[in-house]
This record gives sequence, C-alpha cells and structure tokens, in this order.
Amino acid sequence: MKSVFKGDIIHTPTKDKFEIYENSYLIVEDGHVVKITDKLENLYKCYEFYDYSGKIIIPGFVDVHLHAPQYPNRGLGMDKELIPWLNTYTFPEESKYSDLEYSRRVFEEFINALWAEGTTRCSVYSTIFLESTKLLMDMFIASGLGALVGKVNMDRNSAPALIEDSYQSIIETEEFILEFKDVSDLVKPIITPRFIPTCTDMLLTELGKLAIKYNIPVQSHLNENTSEVEWVRELYPESKNYASVYDRFNLFGQTKTIMAHCVYNTDEETELMAKNGVYVAHCPHSNFNLSSGLSPIRKYLNQGVKVGLGSDISGGHTISMPQVMVGAMQTSKMVWLQSNKELAPLTLSEVFFLATKGGGSFFGNVGSFEEGYECDLLVIDVDNLAYLKTLTPEEKLQKFIYEGSRENIIDRFVKGKKVYKPFLINTQLIPNC
Ligand code: GUN
Ligand code: FE
Repeated sequence: MKSVFKGDIIHTPTKDKFEIYENSYLIVEDGHVVKITDKLENLYKCYEFYDYSGKIIIPGFVDVHLHAPQYPNRGLGMDKELIPWLNTYTFPEESKYSDLEYSRRVFEEFINALWAEGTTRCSVYSTIFLESTKLLMDMFIASGLGALVGKVNMDRNSAPALIEDSYQSIIETEEFILEFKDVSDLVKPIITPRFIPTCTDMLLTELGKLAIKYNIPVQSHLNENTSEVEWVRELYPESKNYASVYDRFNLFGQTKTIMAHCVYNTDEETELMAKNGVYVAHCPHSNFNLSSGLSPIRKYLNQGVKVGLGSDISGGHTISMPQVMVGAMQTSKMVWLQSNKELAPLTLSEVFFLATKGGGSFFGNVGSFEEGYECDLLVIDVDNLAYLKTLTPEEKLQKFIYEGSRENIIDRFVKGKKVYKPFLINTQLIPNC
C-alpha cells in the first residue's frame, strides 16, 4: 500500500524540539515512512492521497503501562495507597475475569477507548486467566492496534482467587507465548510477573528462563510506593535493592524490559537500568492518585535511562495520553521545585517525545516519521478550540494536549493502515412495555 498524507506534520526525532513541516506531504510505502517533502513529485501522484490540509498530523500515542481488567475501576478507591488499593479494589475486580463474557464486554470498551484517544500501541497487563488473556490478544489483533499483552503471573500474597499454582502459571505462560509469538507483527506476548511481592523465586526463575528461551520482553512494577519497597526489603534482606531482585532472575534487561513507576530508585538502581537498557514507564496520574510520589524523570534522562509514559489504568484514572503528558509536565515542575531548581521541568516537546518515540522504541522503529519508521499517525483538528485566535501548528498541538479531547482526533492509522472503531458495542434494548 502506497499513500500520501498532506497536512501540517509534527514529530520529535529528538526530545529537545518539535520538527514541524507546514503544508507538507508524508510519503508512506508498505506501512513505513519514506520521507516528508514540501513538493509532491510526479512519482507520488498515483499514491492513495489523504488531504488533511489545515489539520495537524502527529505520530500515534504509545501507552507503555496499563491494566485492561482494571478498566471498569477508573476513578474508584483513589483515597487509598497502593497495597490497600490492590486488596480492596483491584484484586476483587481482577478475580472476575475467569468469566469470558464479562472479559469480552470490558475488553471491547477498553480497546475502543484506546482507539478513541489515539493510543496506537500499548503494553498491557491482562489477568492471570489464560483464556481471558487469549481473548484480549485476539481482540487486539482484530482491532488493528498494536499491543504487547501479558498474562499476569502471581503465586503468593494476593487474593485467594488470584494465587496461581506455580507450575500451572509457568505452563500456561509458555502455552500463551507459543500460541501468539508469531501470529501478528503488531500484537505480541510480553512476560508479566505482577511485581516481586506476588511471585515466588521458583516462578521468577522460570519466567526469566522463558524470556530468554523465546526472546520475549518483560514488564513489571518497580519502586512505586514506600511500603512496597520496604516489603521487598523484608522479603529479600540479602538483596542490594529491589531492582537487583529482578536482575537476579534474568528479568531486568536480559530481554527488552520495562518497569512501571520507579519513584524511589536509588542511584545504583538507575545506573543498572541505564546499563541494562531497562525502560521506565512513567505513570504520573497513578503516582498522584495513590499518593505514591513524584518520579524524578529528568534525573533518569540525565543518567541515560530510556523512558515512556503510561496511563496505568486504573491507578491512573484516565486513558488519555495527552492528559498523561500534562501530568508528566506537572510532576516534573514539582520535582524541579523540590530539587532547588536543579532538575529542570520537562518541556512539551520532551513529554511528546516520551509519549511517541520514547515509548515507541520499546516496540521497534515506532513513534516518529523518520525514514523507515512504522507509520502510526493521528490527524488532529482543533478548530473548535481556537476561538478567535489564529494558531500556528505548534500552538494547535499545545491546545490539543492541554484541552483537547478524543473528538479532536479525526483519523487514526497504524502501520500505514486506517483503523476504524474496533467494536460496535451492543446497546441494551429497553423492553417496550
Ligand atoms: N503493583 C502491583 N500491581 C499493581 C497494579 O495493578 N497497579 C499499580 N499501580 N501497581 C501495582
Ligand atoms: Fe500498573
């Protein structure tokens, strides 16, 4: 498939500034970017032409950390900290997903919401339940969006309905990997130990082996909350720190790895992340809502750690990546003040980079319009937000990020293909009495 997209094209090949091409053409062949040009050569005139003149064209958003089965819990229990929140709200909800019909209804809403908000790729936790995780995988494949989907593993310290038999957890994870690793180039499995306190050594050992055997990426949580960090210290008193527990089990960069939160990293842990190429999934709303703390992202960037942004549904209450970008900027401003103005606030181009190419690099060449990149794009129309002002393309993007909504996204493409609303939800008919 060969296409040309005309409009005001904006992306961030580097985090330090926006590259803006007004009234230009993005040339795409077989899902990959060929180039951006201000004059359409004859050669491209027979390509499928999308005229988005006056609109901005940006890379699709990448959400590197969220939980599909927590989607119904958005906004609930936000007066609790992590561990009581998990026990009171999260585990009871996640226990429901042995029911496939319930799973399907939630996942339809969940994937539709990702689509609506312009999230074209995500790294997502499913549940411990194999069948509902396979269903989520199939539904992502059908949707046209890109995703890494994890069957959650936990065999201790959880609600009784969510404590797996260790052997079964491993066998099912391998079955899941084998069934899906080569089915789709957009949707793939990711190994997902929930976090250290809910996984035994035996489970972590075998998950590390599976990651290496099949070269599968890994996602988990790290240093989110002070009680959690203390709990890990009690469980592994001999360990230098929390990160080195994952590292010991080959779950820390031995294959591509992303760790959510990292609010309380020690310098040594951050250095290990940089050395092993482990990503931070920064989830600012979740860190506010669960009173977890302020993650010093500027420090991590300075130390050479790769960073993406996550909504962390439902620790985070909103699945909108523009809102997550705003949260990341606000967090960084508080960190700046707390650091006596040493750690500079993140700029708009920096958080945009994190929400596109930063997180996108976890998926490959994703999140930018550089030559050879997989072309995920959104078309944004902010005419209804401009009022009496004439806005530059960059100001249009600012408006969209701060006060836009899903209504401002008029089209979405993943790897060069237009993606339509994935699921038509059955509306309940009201009986006619
Ligand atoms: N740590 C372990 N499980 C979870 C979860 O579901 N959400 C968040 N925010 N942190 C966790
Ligand atoms: Fe999480």
